[in-house]
Amino acid sequence: MIKEYIQTHKARFVAELIEWLRIPSISADSQHKKDMRRAAMFAKEKLQAAGCDKAELMETPGHPVVYAEKFVSPNAPTILVYGHYDVQPPDPIDLWLSPPFEPIVKDNKIFARGACDDKGQVFMHIKAFEAMMRLGQRPCNIKFMIEGEEEIGSAHLGEFVKKYKSQLEADAILISDTSMISLETPSITVGLRGLCYMEAEVIGPNRDLHSGVYGGAVANPANVLASMIASLHDEKGRVTIPGFYDKVMTLSDAERKELNKAPFSMTDYKRELGVHEVKGEEGFTTLERVGIRPTLDVNGIWGGYVGEGAKTVLPSKASAKISMRLVPNQTTDEIAELFTKHFKSIAPPSVKVKVTALHGGEPAVTPTDSAAYRAAEKAITEVFGKKPIPTRDGGSIPIVALFKKELGLDTVLLGFGLDTDAIHSPNEHFGTKNFLLGVETIFAFYQAFGTEMKTMKGN
Ligand code: BES
Ligand code: MN
Ligand code: MN
Repeated sequence: MIKEYIQTHKARFVAELIEWLRIPSISADSQHKKDMRRAAMFAKEKLQAAGCDKAELMETPGHPVVYAEKFVSPNAPTILVYGHYDVQPPDPIDLWLSPPFEPIVKDNKIFARGACDDKGQVFMHIKAFEAMMRLGQRPCNIKFMIEGEEEIGSAHLGEFVKKYKSQLEADAILISDTSMISLETPSITVGLRGLCYMEAEVIGPNRDLHSGVYGGAVANPANVLASMIASLHDEKGRVTIPGFYDKVMTLSDAERKELNKAPFSMTDYKRELGVHEVKGEEGFTTLERVGIRPTLDVNGIWGGYVGEGAKTVLPSKASAKISMRLVPNQTTDEIAELFTKHFKSIAPPSVKVKVTALHGGEPAVTPTDSAAYRAAEKAITEVFGKKPIPTRDGGSIPIVALFKKELGLDTVLLGFGLDTDAIHSPNEHFGTKNFLLGVETIFAFYQAFGTEMKTMKGN
């Protein structure tokens, strides 16, 4: 019945999603504040139309959260669905083959910023819920919490979750904001890295100087910054900040072996990225380097003259945005402190250094022995015909650790993107097949979760 429902309505599902994708809900850019609200309203209206009893915008000091719920029965278990309607800035815009906010469907893929991360994946939930209501198969109470600040670090969510703790009460959290290995090899994400995002400024002379008159006689902040950054890794690809690895949880050989069982082709990986060699911490595989090891990367670096042509100048300042991906049991506060202390300590006396923490989120590992995980496994097996593999993803979703800490709830990361969907990059897209299979799987999850919870209570 669900298959039929999807077949009958799929054109409308995609058309509605496209309408949502047209709204440039870029949370990082204050010029899009109104668009943020429009995108939130759109979600609210769709949730209402799909059959929620209650759907509203809830204010935060930043962008609003869309909250909606459908209560079916006090005996039914409750699922809290989380997602985000904000998207990353589309830059660099000239690399898009079609404009980021004028969605098109090409080769069975929807191209637009947010197509996969995360509007497309949130929309699967809205449509699965719509199907649940229309088909009259309602095994679960469903709550939706769709936020607008995930891509900028979910700074206001800690407070929000604390404040509305009882309203958000549920038996499990369900999030579709990750990827699977492929449609042939479905997977469920069971680990996410944390993030500690810093900005550093190296300050030299009190003004930009003529590089001939002063060059060689005064420390150049850009040169200094470059060598400071270069010193943050050793020849083995390890981060040199003292104490950086102290809290890192190491996996047993058996766990590492399990993790490396996931199909992975180095040749395809390199070809797809256009690189000749991969690079990372010595002694770990690529899957381990992104899944279970912490990292440090420069996200942006600037200073001096970057306009057209040449200008002979010795910059007064140089800056970099540096982020570290964290794994259990590292914490953002500790790592931010270690970074700040170390970065200041390696600055030569010829410059001053300013370090600021921008945002962060804690790492998370989700259990594979919960009723919700079993339900997800069952749903995927039903729809894809194969049992999903548990994987550890390298990205971060700050709310997962927050839900555990504030609500005591575990999350199931039921994502339907692919690593090749170009999230955060030009030409982001989402396969219509992934989208529709996602709707079907989420619907199957409701049924399986209802059954799992009944069996558990019966015992
Ligand atoms: N959906 C991603 C996270 C993700 C992507 C997890 C792919 C696993 C696989 C999310 O929207 C994201 O981009 N998060 C940011 C978090 C940050 C801004 C705090 C990230 O990982 O950079
Ligand atoms: Mn996302
Ligand atoms: Mn993202």
